Amino acid sequence: MNTIINKMNNNATDEQAGLTDLFSRTISYLRVSVTDQCNLRCIYCTPKAIDEKLACADLLSYEELLRIIRIAVSMGIKKVRLTGGEPLVRRDIVSFIRNLTAIPGLDDIRLTTNGILLPQLAGQLYEAGIRKLNISLDTLRPERYLQITGKDYFFRVWQGIESAREIGFSPIKINVVLLRGINDDELLDFARLSMTENLQIRFIEFMPMGDAVIQAKERYFSSEEMIARIETLGTLHRVEARNMDGPARIYRFEGASGSLGFISPISHQFCDRCNRLRLTSEGRLRSCLLSDQETDIRKILRSSGTDEEIREAIVETILNKPKGHALLEEDGANCHGRMSRIGG
Ligand code: 5AD
Ligand code: SF4
Repeated sequence: MNTIINKMNNNATDEQAGLTDLFSRTISYLRVSVTDQCNLRCIYCTPKAIDEKLACADLLSYEELLRIIRIAVSMGIKKVRLTGGEPLVRRDIVSFIRNLTAIPGLDDIRLTTNGILLPQLAGQLYEAGIRKLNISLDTLRPERYLQITGKDYFFRVWQGIESAREIGFSPIKINVVLLRGINDDELLDFARLSMTENLQIRFIEFMPMGDAVIQAKERYFSSEEMIARIETLGTLHRVEARNMDGPARIYRFEGASGSLGFISPISHQFCDRCNRLRLTSEGRLRSCLLSDQETDIRKILRSSGTDEEIREAIVETILNKPKGHALLEEDGANCHGRMSRIGG
């Protein structure tokens, strides 16, 4: 084993400290799905077959989550994102977040939400220590929102975004999955929004995954085509990515209040820079969104496993992290998991 934990080395500087995989990628980012439940049924995420919800006992408890995250942070994880399903539907999520922000060494905690519960919860989330929000919104048209998500909640989300802005969250990023023939006619409306509003609009390439209601490759819309169309509105300037910004390529119109991000899992595989590890809502650690290889941490926790055993399981998962994904190959991904359990 030539790569493992450099952290143990007393001489390691902060930058060196951490977890490294077999392809020299430093793993510093943990995405945690806190629930598989969601209050929407987005067409690209919801499975065709009726989805059995996980029993409560299958979900990791908050105590279990905190234990794993504490250990992961002690090993070099620096950033945690809470996802789902919809994380805000889980009971007592705010007190969990309060405990999470108290973990020493963990200063970067982010949340991905569909925004529906933000009008009620934004204030409490801010007080609990969250500052950075990603809000999913694939359309600016209320009637289309109903078609895409199955629920007539457009105005709630919009109000959620407004509340988050008033309270002072920053940055606020809007995630848009652009789907050919479904919402691609709104590309320029979303792009214009970045001119006047201090928001980062992030266009995500659709990944035809698993058993979602829509998985047709014809729905796919590449970032390059998006950029070419958006440039008809004005010149885009590339903005340098910051260290923890992740795989998005960021652009800005001259003088704009906000920015545009392009996340291109298909056309610009960012696997070589991937710094992520994922914890599913059932307590399985996964080194890649698109590979079904998982380590069952819940089993270790519930059989009186020691911290050392959990540490070993984390290292083992990282050492099994695949070099890249095969989403474009003929038989698709080697991923059959549900986005809502794995965490988007
Ligand atoms: N392709 C691309 N993005 C997806 N998301 C969920 N499923 C897919 C998919 N198949 C996105 C959601 C949300 C984030 C959590 O993941 O839109 O913004
Ligand atoms: Fe990383 Fe897997 Fe995503 Fe590639 S597909 S960037 S390896 S998580």
